Amino acid sequence: MSNNNRWAVPENLPQKMFIDGQWVASSSDRMIDTIDPATGSVIGRFPEANSDDVDRAVASASAALSGEWRATTPAQRGRILARTAALIREQAERLASIETLESGKPIREALGDIETAAGYFEYYAGIADKLQGDSIPLGPDFMSFTVHEPVGVTAHIIPWNFPLVTTARGAAPALAAGCTAVIKPAEQTSLTSLMLGEILCQAGLPAGVCNIITGYGAEAGGALTDHSDVAHVTFTGSVATGKTVMKTAADHVASVTLELGGKSPVVVLADADLDAAVEGTLKAIYLNAGQVCSAGSRLVVDRKIHAAMMERLVPASEAMALGHGLDDAQLGPLISADQLGKVAGYVDGAKARSVSVATGGRLGEVAGMEGGFFYTPTILDDVPLEEKVVQEEIFGPVLCVQVVDSPEQALAVANGTDFGLVAGIYTRDISRALEFARDVDSGQVFINQYFAGGIATPFGGTKQSGFGREKGLAAMASYYRVKCITARLT
Ligand code: NAI
Ligand code: MG
Repeated sequence: MSNNNRWAVPENLPQKMFIDGQWVASSSDRMIDTIDPATGSVIGRFPEANSDDVDRAVASASAALSGEWRATTPAQRGRILARTAALIREQAERLASIETLESGKPIREALGDIETAAGYFEYYAGIADKLQGDSIPLGPDFMSFTVHEPVGVTAHIIPWNFPLVTTARGAAPALAAGCTAVIKPAEQTSLTSLMLGEILCQAGLPAGVCNIITGYGAEAGGALTDHSDVAHVTFTGSVATGKTVMKTAADHVASVTLELGGKSPVVVLADADLDAAVEGTLKAIYLNAGQVCSAGSRLVVDRKIHAAMMERLVPASEAMALGHGLDDAQLGPLISADQLGKVAGYVDGAKARSVSVATGGRLGEVAGMEGGFFYTPTILDDVPLEEKVVQEEIFGPVLCVQVVDSPEQALAVANGTDFGLVAGIYTRDISRALEFARDVDSGQVFINQYFAGGIATPFGGTKQSGFGREKGLAAMASYYRVKCITARLT
């Protein structure tokens, strides 16, 4: 496979799936092309798994649960995860450039993501041997205590916006708890997750403990979530697919973690540090071209500083150069023609309904990348709360500005969608910030720095943003179950 020399495709990309410690083809022999979204050219291909392949992967994960993995001590599990972190770091540049080629994201962001992926393995490595139960006092005639058991085979359905990092976010705590895993990366971005299969093996993970299958959502993802031997499904993606996953898992009473995106507000009160608020707002909406579940896609700003914010945000947006991720462009392309069409459709619809476009609002044109899926940084100004572009996740570089007259109205507007993933607030008044944090309906609150936190901070949603928590110690609850043992002594 090759594209033009300027953005050379690394050699030896995986072209098979990773099942039971082996590289294997799909039983159908069908393949999926993966493309560079900046140019539209094919950079690689991987198998299109069907339900037979899914059965094979789940059978391998089931067998591994009772084999060598069961005999591996928690401390040994931790050492395998720590070695995985080290191996990811050793290959960080290769992994990042492959992730940039497949996803379009700027290389500095991909390098950050790969480091975070390593960080997940490192963090959960330290937890593997520290999970312990309780003893329950029932008086002298009884002894009662709890043990944590791995839930079993876990399925991980991964989106295309953060390929390796989302894979690591689910796989690392699952393996730390002693579970086994079957991972299905997104059909647009499977290469780095496939590479993780081999890295885990090199780190000493027994065959079958972590299997990686590639394929389309309905066929491969559907068969995986429908499999009766899967005990838990961790899903990140759209609300519609999340509901399907939950219904499918319900048929065999598997638990689910659903991380379904949002329409997160960045609230800027009149007393905010404007420089910090502007910088935070730009990062909130333009990171990964806005294709971030926790993107700050609504700026909820006090009328007193609305003009001052716009005077800075508009020129900063217009100054952002679109380009190839491997050239570390400020803004890369969207993932696909479909996603570009979706984003453009939202903005065109808003324009037709007379929403004011402060900047952008059109396709991006980049010389030499005519086949790419670029969209210009876009700000829609003073958008009513009931507008579709305020209520629905666009998943592109499109910021909706909502103007308010008081902190109370800011809270009401922040809570005014069906989503509840993140809420950010900028104010110098820490009491006000903490009151907002108390009252806002969302899983995370960022005060005076959008995206504050990291691997150790629990992450998940309320309302249509889903439920269950990933990251931090909180994530472990999805991957172990509590068994209570009580003995009568006399
Ligand atoms: P999607 O939710 O359909 O896909 C996410 C993952 O689920 C992929 O691995 C896909 O293959 C898999 N999948 C699809 N259908 C499935 C099924 N029936 N059973 C099991 N797995 C299935 O999202 P898609 O189509 O890639 O993007 C559509 C929209 O979803 C985006 O425009 C964006 O708004 C949102 N989205 C949100 C994400 C987030 O981080 N919360 C990530 C990706 C997309
Ligand atoms: Mg879909």
